[in-house]
Amino acid sequence: MPVKGHPDIQAPSGRLCQRLAELDVTLVTVCADGGAGVQGRGRWEERLVVGSPVFASSLRSKWGELTQRSRQAVSLWPGLSLVPLYPGPGRSAGVHGCEAGEITAALLLGTELAESEQFHRVCDATETDRRAALSKMDVRALLSVEETQRLAQMIGWMARDTDDLGWRLNELHDLSWELAGSYEELSLLYKLSTSMVVDHPPQSFLEEACREMREVVGLRWLAIQLSPSEPGFADLSVPVCIESNSSYDKLVIRQMGPRLIEAIGGRTEPTIVDDVPGMGVPGLAQIAESLLVTPLHFDGKLLGLLYGADKIDSGLGLSTVDSKLCASLGSSLSIYLKNVLLYEDMQSMFLGTMHALSTTIDAKDSYTQGHSERVALMSRQLAEAAGLDDQAVQRVYLSGLVHDVGKIGVPEAVLTKPGKLTKEEYELVKMHPEIGARILEGIRQMDDLIPGVLHHHESWDGKGYPHGLAGHDIPLFGRIIGLADAYDAMSSDRTYRRAMPMAEVLDEVRRCSGKQFDPDLVEVFVGLDFGPYLEMISKHQNLKRSA
Ligand SMILES: [Fe+2]
Repeated sequence: MPVKGHPDIQAPSGRLCQRLAELDVTLVTVCADGGAGVQGRGRWEERLVVGSPVFASSLRSKWGELTQRSRQAVSLWPGLSLVPLYPGPGRSAGVHGCEAGEITAALLLGTELAESEQFHRVCDATETDRRAALSKMDVRALLSVEETQRLAQMIGWMARDTDDLGWRLNELHDLSWELAGSYEELSLLYKLSTSMVVDHPPQSFLEEACREMREVVGLRWLAIQLSPSEPGFADLSVPVCIESNSSYDKLVIRQMGPRLIEAIGGRTEPTIVDDVPGMGVPGLAQIAESLLVTPLHFDGKLLGLLYGADKIDSGLGLSTVDSKLCASLGSSLSIYLKNVLLYEDMQSMFLGTMHALSTTIDAKDSYTQGHSERVALMSRQLAEAAGLDDQAVQRVYLSGLVHDVGKIGVPEAVLTKPGKLTKEEYELVKMHPEIGARILEGIRQMDDLIPGVLHHHESWDGKGYPHGLAGHDIPLFGRIIGLADAYDAMSSDRTYRRAMPMAEVLDEVRRCSGKQFDPDLVEVFVGLDFGPYLEMISKHQNLKRSA
């Protein structure tokens, strides 16, 4: 039995032939019409007998027995037996002109051959001198009747064992393929699950997922289309991720993705679509002969589609194995997308809370209305320009929003007092960074905002408060927010003075470089675009007027 698809595994018939050759047993190919041939060289007497018309005639008369008694000795005449092993000519060329069935059999010659009447006829028919023939024969290779029976039995066992071995090798081979496939699938699922970090941009994860999944499933192209009706995905810059070598495929997929979501309707299970034109999605039939569509849903809500077309190996079609694999991948992706939406919700709620908190702080003093938001804005701009990464920029913004949260613990009369503060009043105001840090201490998600809150009144020369830190000992968030804070204090009206013109404010910032402020940050700060800040300050002034 040939072993499917694996050239390295020797077919059982080949293995059996090899072992019989080592035992000096000759194989013959025999045909139902009497044709026969020795496989390999064989001995002289074997070629003489097998090529004779007597052998052909015996073969025809014993054919029925030969086909029914597989792996058992069939005597053609005294001293000549065949052990049928398997159908077909094996590795030999087969019997010339044989149109009927062929069998490969072991040829066993016995000591009775020389005296048999059939051997006489073989010699006559082939015009061979019998005496000369007998002297040419290798009589030591001739078997007794008992030896013939035992050897035939051993050959039969060997053939059955070889068959069994072939089946097992086949099973092992199939199992290895299945294991290799499962390993790839599991590695992919593991890799995807470890990359599903919701506070990282989803685009890069989805693109990576597309690339890996297309390779493992073996598709010509694969895409993830996010549902356009889901508002949580609105901020994602690319609603579809495509992995394909063809730019035309990508163009069509980009255009027809939302239409495909409509065409899939309420399906929740992976579907193999063979009638692609029947789906009625324009352009789809041009880039896909068959399609595998996996809806990505959670709690009955369609979040998007995972879909791909045509196996790269053209000999294979999309199968239930692909469908099951995509179902597993789809479940993981659905959970990830749901978590992305939850994270977005949580982030926007957190941001809303922070804005509400900053508004509450600023409301204590009508003169400082909008101060926290403006400080947050300038801190973010400064952090960006100073080269901080996206996450740090976002955190410094949040820290700026709550930098004065400790003012909640300072009496309103002190905060809004027109004119100069007494020494005691100033000491009360100076407590607000530490009060603020204590307020945030209990909130794990705000741990990294504390340095900006606690140290925004430190001074580069060490003359600030609360800890009198100097230079780079002042945490970066503190130095950034401190500069933005002082800039806004000078640029807006206060109870005790009017706002300074911008040019003067910037001169003052430069003058204080290396004294109050980090000189490197000052250099970046004076080059910032103050347009957004001025817009915000005028918005806050309008709000104050209309209040
Ligand atoms: Fe402050």
